[in-house]
This record gives sequence, structure tokens and C-alpha cells, in this order.
Amino acid sequence: MIPIAKTIARIREYVAQARAAGKTVGFVPTMGALHAGHASLIEAAARRCDYVVVSIFVNPTQFGPGEDLEKYPRPFEKDVQVCERCGAHAIFAPSAEEMYPRKNSTWVTVEKLTEPLCGRFRPGHFRGVTTVCTKLFNIVGADVAFFGQKDAQQATVIRRMVADLNMPLEIVVCPTVREPDGLAMSSRNQYLSPQERSQAPVIYRALQRCGEMIKAGEQNAAKITEGMSEVLRQVPALQVEYVSIVDAESLEPCDRVRGQVLVAVAARLGSTRLIDNIRVDTTVK
Ligand code: PAF
Repeated sequence: MIPIAKTIARIREYVAQARAAGKTVGFVPTMGALHAGHASLIEAAARRCDYVVVSIFVNPTQFGPGEDLEKYPRPFEKDVQVCERCGAHAIFAPSAEEMYPRKNSTWVTVEKLTEPLCGRFRPGHFRGVTTVCTKLFNIVGADVAFFGQKDAQQATVIRRMVADLNMPLEIVVCPTVREPDGLAMSSRNQYLSPQERSQAPVIYRALQRCGEMIKAGEQNAAKITEGMSEVLRQVPALQVEYVSIVDAESLEPCDRVRGQVLVAVAARLGSTRLIDNIRVDTTVK
């Protein structure tokens, strides 16, 4: 049975033992409700590192008022099985009291990169993510941490935080894992009704339209986002938050698609918020 540490002291003990045995340490931070996307991160960590820690913690500080903190799925037993099957060596599953024993007065804030895209619609979200990741990185003390490209802005923000604050770990970003119909894997997909689930792949179809337009030589970002919006309008129930083409590093909007760009969409279907993106490199033919 994979060991499960519920306290900071215990996970530090496990990692210290692994280090004493000369092992490299990989870390996959999650909020649980693990799916094939998380599985691919744990497997990548297990290929790269000798000892893999997965954290399962639904972090309250990254949820805004009225968001889904209470109803966020917590299928703990199933998550433990996924961790075991994918080659993890320990799980860190702290309570909210263990992680935040008092009202937090220290926050980690990454400026600029957290303002566009999801930052406009989820105020305070990235401050919660960067703060909890700093805490988790300090607790686990890994050599490498693994994040998914599905949360592209989160990955960019975390990379920048690690670089700016000289945190002694490497960040690896792994490709988005999709359902056969293109829908990006997400713990929130299980909120979708059967009808919404059948409509949700329209987001990926819009991203594909973007890829086709760029391949055909279109460089005008406004024309491309209009082409994507046309696809998204095929599902009138979809409430689009943004369709954006930004520089993949600075996340600043692009007028023309040149170099490395991130094409990102966020939309609501009923009460479920879905995000997806593709990275396009126009220098690669
Ligand atoms: O991507 C997530 O699941 C969360 O934002 C993370 C990185 C585990 C921090 O709570």
C-alpha cells in the first residue's frame, strides 16, 4: 500500500528517507479527482525521478466566492489507486488546517502574467495557486515538479515564480491529455450533464479551426479569433469568457500570429467552467 502522509512532518520524513538513499525526488501537485491527464504527469515523474510524491489538496485559497470549493469532487480511495498504478511512492494529503493553521498573512503574487486570460475572470485565483505551490514546494523539497499544459497560464506563472524567486527545482510541463472527441481532460468535466458533455468538444473544434487558419497562412489574430468564435457559436448554450491569442511567454495579446503563441479559450456550459488551449509555433513548418 502506498504511504499516505497527512502531516507536513510525515511527508518530510518520507522524502528525507528517499534522499538519504540517494534518490531524486519528483512532485506532482494535484487537487485530486485524478484523471488520465494527472496519470500522465505521475508517469512522467516516475520515468524521470526515483521517488515520486503526489499531493492531493483542494486548496481553498484559489477558489473565489461562489466558485465550486464545496462541491469539488473528492474521490480519495480512487485517487490513491491511480497514484499507485502510475508509479507514485507517497501521497501527501493534508487537511486545510494542516496547510493553513492560521489566517494567512503571507502571499506570493506574480504580477502581469496573472492579469489577462483567467486572471480577469477569477480574481485572486493565481495568488492562491502561487502561494500554495510555494508552500508545497517548501514542504516536499522536490528536484522536479510536473504541471499540465491544459492549465497553460498556471504553468507559465509557476515557471516565472520559480525563476524570479530562485526556487531550487525544475518545472516540467506535460502535454494536454484529451478524450477521443478532443475534450481536454479535467476534473470538472464530471459536472457536465450528458447533453453538455456532447456539446463541450466544440471548444477543441474551435482550437482546431485556429490551427487550420494558421496553417493556411492567416496571421491576423482578430480574423482567427473570429473564425474560432464562429465555431463556438454552433453551441448557443456556451457562454464564452475569452478567446485569446497571446505571446506564449509574456501572455500579452498579439495582433499578428508570429513565433510562439498561445491560443486559449475559456467558456461556461451551464455552471461548469471549461478552459483549453493550444500552443502554436509559426517558425516550425
Ligand atoms: O492545477 C491544480 O490542480 C492546482 O491549481 C494546483 C497546482 C494543485 C495547486 O492547488
